[in-house]
Amino acid sequence: MENIFNNQIKNQPLLILKNIKKNFGNVNALKGVYLRAFNGKVMGILGENGAGKSTLMNVLSGVIQKSSGELIWNNKTLNNFKNVKEAERIGISIIHQEIACFNDMNVLDNIYAGHEISCLGFINYSKQRKKVKEIFKLLRLEIDLGSMMNSLTIAEQQMVEIAKAILRKSKLIIFDEPTSSLSKSEAEVLFEVIQKLKKEDIAICYISHKLEEIPIICDFITIIRDGNFIGEYTVNELNEDEIISKMVGREINEKYPLKDHIDNKEIILEVEELSNSFVKNINFKLYKNEILGFSGLVGAQRTELFKSLIGFYPITTGKVLLNNKQVYLKSVGSSIKKGIYYVTEDRKNDGLLLNESIRKNISLSSLDKISRFGFIDFSKEKKLARNYIKKMSIKTLSPETFVGTMSGGNQQKVLLAKAFAAEPKIMIFDEPTRGVDVGSRREIYDLIYEAKRNGIGVIVISSDLPEVIGLCNRVMVMKSGKITNIINGDSLSPDEIMKYSI
Ligand SMILES: Nc1ncnc2c1ncn2[C@@H]1O[C@H](COP(=O)(O)OP(=O)(O)OP(=O)(O)O)[C@@H](O)[C@H]1O
Ligand SMILES: [Mg+2]
Repeated sequence: MENIFNNQIKNQPLLILKNIKKNFGNVNALKGVYLRAFNGKVMGILGENGAGKSTLMNVLSGVIQKSSGELIWNNKTLNNFKNVKEAERIGISIIHQEIACFNDMNVLDNIYAGHEISCLGFINYSKQRKKVKEIFKLLRLEIDLGSMMNSLTIAEQQMVEIAKAILRKSKLIIFDEPTSSLSKSEAEVLFEVIQKLKKEDIAICYISHKLEEIPIICDFITIIRDGNFIGEYTVNELNEDEIISKMVGREINEKYPLKDHIDNKEIILEVEELSNSFVKNINFKLYKNEILGFSGLVGAQRTELFKSLIGFYPITTGKVLLNNKQVYLKSVGSSIKKGIYYVTEDRKNDGLLLNESIRKNISLSSLDKISRFGFIDFSKEKKLARNYIKKMSIKTLSPETFVGTMSGGNQQKVLLAKAFAAEPKIMIFDEPTRGVDVGSRREIYDLIYEAKRNGIGVIVISSDLPEVIGLCNRVMVMKSGKITNIINGDSLSPDEIMKYSI
């Protein structure tokens, strides 16, 4: 059994997981997975959406308990961790894919929740503040310690979680898709931090669907597919195509659809002089048949711009014209009624009902289409859900599965299905492939193209530079609430975008 691991790796493992199995009712999420982690090394964990990566990490960090298998830590076999605290006590921390912070606490309290530094029964705030400030400096974070967690962007929340793990002096830190909502330069800061953690001899498990990161950040990789262990490799052993074919069990051709020719004649959406507390003098046109990208770093206010456009935030000045007619978008509901649909980047907090079925979530935005005399036609609703499950290859046994139990990438697909099902005129996708695997990403791009070819106006906000460049015909670059440049098709390049982002 020992030679299931890679014999080129001579390091002494800090952690060995052997033959880990985990069932959720009749779902076998892990069917016998092996994993090792080494001091001062990064182990990448790769696999498609629903492969079992997060489940494995949740077992390792005490969030859930394995059904069977062995966990060896520092040469000692340990029992199941009963909870997260038990795993933390021996030095295992996890930064979750979906950040689970205390939304209505401030940054400082959130970091120290349950681990306060006290003296004679009093919390020593100044000591806590000093320690956090040191770590924030290391992470180059400029977040006010008094800010509420729910006022931070996902990227900032993620960085706060990292600060927390470093403060707890973990020996093994698990990063579950840490860069899924980070732009390139923020990801680079994170990579520097990981280099520092490696120097401190901390072992790291690193999950990502951004395969271009793997050679930069990982020393070794473990690939799992459909709950099965495929193999452990040194990072130089496989190229990207080989990794993909081991992950998905088949070859993937081109990553992006072929771009259409655009003649920019017909304007579908026009925004004039839009301003409020987030953005200043925003002007742009969206033409029929194009995909218009919005790029920028965290803090560029791209999400805020579109949430203002759809009436979520009030605007002070500005005009929105839909098919050359001015529309007044006073609320999210009125925007949807008029055909403008914003697909959130934050599926967990404002996109999906996690305690409801896939069926209910998908039909939520198109109830008028499946209702008669005010009653939902159950069979129509089911059919709608089945259609999208098939069309988007959503991995599930049934439309009745609760969305909260699905893997991150599959939740993202449900979010998109809900948007497509509404059949809007304009779709604004905010980070549409956040957490989606390579194979499924292409499927989503195809759906976006199909929507566009059917005459739907498409805007894509994305921090993923290859994605913006591969997908969009024109890209608006934003910085601190303003549009700094518009880059057209042939001139699109990462350097050109970065030049106007910073
Ligand atoms: N609490 C749960 N109840 C039922 N099924 C679950 C639960 N948690 C996970 N699963 C199932 O286990 C399988 C593996 O999910 P997991 O979240 O580990 O995938 P993943 O590899 O992290 O995928 P992704 O890349 O999309 O994040 C999926 O089929 C998922 O639906
Ligand atoms: Mg996951």
